Amino acid sequence: MRFLLSMILGAALLSGCDINETMRAKAKDGKTADARALAAKGGCMGCHAVFNTVYGPAWQLVSERYQGMPQARDMLMERINKGSYGRWDQITEGKRMPPQKGALNDEELGKVVDYILSLAGDERS
Ligand code: HEC
Repeated sequence: MRFLLSMILGAALLSGCDINETMRAKAKDGKTADARALAAKGGCMGCHAVFNTVYGPAWQLVSERYQGMPQARDMLMERINKGSYGRWDQITEGKRMPPQKGALNDEELGKVVDYILSLAGDERS
């Protein structure tokens, strides 16, 4: 009886874990899809791609550069709104990002920046 009970409990726990994992993955996918749609709406994807440098730097490279920097989110939001140049010259040959203020509101831009900062080490997908 004990054995059976622990089997059942164990199975329940295991499947519980699976459900949590799936839900976490879904939540991340939902956020990712949301952020990607916002970035498209804001016109960012005309110059950027996630894993490749097109006109602007690949967002994964941006994420890697600012890992572990607590102020990165605010800093990037400000630079995107005001425009940026000179920071990625080695890979963009001196191209500039014009001010993007008005392309997205602060809440939307915050979601896009969170997404960008989450990309370090991600597999291409
Ligand atoms: C006209 C092309 C263009 C558009 C549109 C554009 N970017 Fe950029 N972006 C660039 C270029 C070029 C750079 C590199 C600037 C530099 O060297 O400082 C850049 C840099 C960045 C960086 C890195 C800034 C830093 O401080 O390292 C981020 C983050 C970024 N862009 C996000 C965005 C987001 C989000 C949008 C949409 C709201 C957007 N960009 C729209 C061209 C663009």
